[in-house]
Amino acid sequence: MKAGAAFSADWLALREPFDAAARAASAPLLQALRARAPASGPWRVMDLGCGTGANLRWLAPRLGGAQQWLVIDHDESLLARWDHQPGFAPSDAGRLRWQGAGFSAEVLRRQTDLARGFAALPWAAAQLVTASALLDLVGEAWLRALVAHASGARATLFFALSVDGRHAWSPRDPHDAAVDTLFAAHQRRDKGLGPALGAQAVPMLARLLRERGYRVRLARSDWRVAAPHDPDGALQRALIEGLARAAQEQDPAQAPLVRGWRERRLAQVARGRLRVGHLDLLAWPAR
Ligand SMILES: C[S@@+](CC[C@H](N)C(=O)[O-])C[C@H]1O[C@@H](n2cnc3c(N)ncnc32)[C@H](O)[C@@H]1O
Repeated sequence: MKAGAAFSADWLALREPFDAAARAASAPLLQALRARAPASGPWRVMDLGCGTGANLRWLAPRLGGAQQWLVIDHDESLLARWDHQPGFAPSDAGRLRWQGAGFSAEVLRRQTDLARGFAALPWAAAQLVTASALLDLVGEAWLRALVAHASGARATLFFALSVDGRHAWSPRDPHDAAVDTLFAAHQRRDKGLGPALGAQAVPMLARLLRERGYRVRLARSDWRVAAPHDPDGALQRALIEGLARAAQEQDPAQAPLVRGWRERRLAQVARGRLRVGHLDLLAWPAR
């Protein structure tokens, strides 16, 4: 039975500043991406699993120039939030316009399930296919389809903030590894886009793209979850609860171990530090 992937707007808002801070580490990828700006006309960008727009809010000002974005999500309530983004104004044909120093983005939202509606997306028009925090949800067949469609269009790909499985806690707990193993197994459940690859998604995408003649560059974009970035511990608490919930669901027989881990972790949030491993991937056709 497939479980749909639902993400609350509150969770996306909580993570956005950590995402933005983490993406600073992949600045060299951004520089390489900007070098691929179209010789004429606007950037034509497709953002898969756009949520409330964090990827566009980070990327559009850094890409610069004129841009046309098609942003895609299956969750209507997340897409509806774009109407209330500060600085976003209604434009023609249901589009939104967001402009600032050195950039102007036209944004068209599309409610589509990336499982069923994937092939029908306007691939031929896309110069840049992007997503943030999406890849752990997808399966191998979906990745193969992505690579086939994007390479058919000779599009550049920029996939940010994909988890790579690293959770480095300080101080350590004897049951960190056990909880991580259960969480990773839970992460590989089918979320509607095939048996999910979790932390293996980026290595597989990199391999598939290289096989298609793409050049691939990777950069780390780890979350650093600790004071002063997480002053009230809100993200750390949310991660502890999320890891514990998934671990218990994965193996209810391990509930006592997981409960103990959760209680110890919550008790030391004020001095706890966590690094969550992420990777950013940039790829473009080599010839
Ligand atoms: C972790 S969130 C990331 C959202 C956004 N890119 C960001 O960085 O804040 C994953 C997004 O993928 C969307 N999503 C998950 N499964 C989907 C599917 N089958 N079709 C379309 N969107 C999907 C979710 O609704 C959610 O907005």
